[in-house]
Amino acid sequence: MKKISVKTSRPYEVIIQRGGLSRAGELISAVTTSKKCVIISDDIVAPLYAETLERSLSQSGISSSLFVFPNGEQSKSLSTLGKIYDHLCSSNLTRSDFIIALGGGVVGDITGFAAASYLRGLDFIQIPTTLLAQVDSSVGGKTAIDISGGKNLVGAFKQPALVICDSDTLKTLPPQTLADGMAESIKYGMIKDSELFDLIADHDLSTIDQVMDQMVYTCIDIKRAVVENDEFDHGERMLLNFGHTLGHAMEGWHNYTNYTHGMGVAAGMCIMSAKTAPAEVTERLKKCVETYGLPTDTEAPMAELLPFCATDKKCLSDRINYIVCEKIGCGEIRNALVSDFNALMEG
Ligand code: NAD
Ligand code: GLY
Repeated sequence: MKKISVKTSRPYEVIIQRGGLSRAGELISAVTTSKKCVIISDDIVAPLYAETLERSLSQSGISSSLFVFPNGEQSKSLSTLGKIYDHLCSSNLTRSDFIIALGGGVVGDITGFAAASYLRGLDFIQIPTTLLAQVDSSVGGKTAIDISGGKNLVGAFKQPALVICDSDTLKTLPPQTLADGMAESIKYGMIKDSELFDLIADHDLSTIDQVMDQMVYTCIDIKRAVVENDEFDHGERMLLNFGHTLGHAMEGWHNYTNYTHGMGVAAGMCIMSAKTAPAEVTERLKKCVETYGLPTDTEAPMAELLPFCATDKKCLSDRINYIVCEKIGCGEIRNALVSDFNALMEG
């Protein structure tokens, strides 16, 4: 078992352990005295893992009820949030009880926002079951839902009380979903850690499980350090968005259907690198991205992507922050007029 202590405004631990799900009751009992919770999950994850979790909670004397919604980004909505609130209410959950998010980033984000807002806030625990959620979304306290105006536009910072990463749960992931998590893992290598990049580049989707716990640990530890320095996203945390400005634009261009976040991040990193980094850096990045079956480019015309970039949360007034890695392992934040950013991207 490996542990990472995250020292944010609300400190907590991330536990990385194969088989951790079946020890959840015992691990959770170490951080709360409450004996009551609601588990939120989706209709793919719940049939796979809810029973193991419920059994483990029950063995520790914790009663639970389960709320399941349809899997996918479309569920990260006001409508699902309303149903979650109704379930919390009918379960008579009080402020001293807690909620568990069992699933990928969609489950984690909406559950976290429900925990931030229901009864003006109660504890929640993340049990991420996708690689993306383990290395990124379950740690750091960003919670959100989507509204018709855009993704993640309504949310709150709410740190979890505990995160349990069980890499055994990743074995049931479809290859594309595993690859999406690899895009974020490659990102950490690019912005902060060339050894992590080398480790990832030396494997592929069929062998990465051999080094999964080491990779997950390293990625989370990078995120920990960044989030501890800039919990509320005013500076260094923007580094985590390498590839994301263009990536989000691609997701939007594809109407958030049949185009995943990981695909956007992968292509976004490669395109940004081609515009701003030495050719050998871009070549290594592209080779690594291709190894994991992720795209290095997009069919979307740049002129159609740029309007999406202008609505990015990293855009302030007429200026935009974007992330560049001139060297593998060294990300930096650049700030430019939107017009100059557009010229760079179209050049
Ligand atoms: P997801 O939660 O939609 O999961 C992807 C698919 O995998 C779903 O169909 C899900 O049912 C399935 N799944 C999950 N675990 C599984 C398992 N172990 N075995 C088989 N299938 C499984 O997507 P995601 O990629 O995990 O997360 C994407 C979301 O995360 C987006 O909404 C994004 O905005 C958000 N996100 C948030 C942050 C943050 O800091 N809060 C960071 C990055 C991304
Ligand atoms: N996923 C980006 C962040 O947590 O800031």
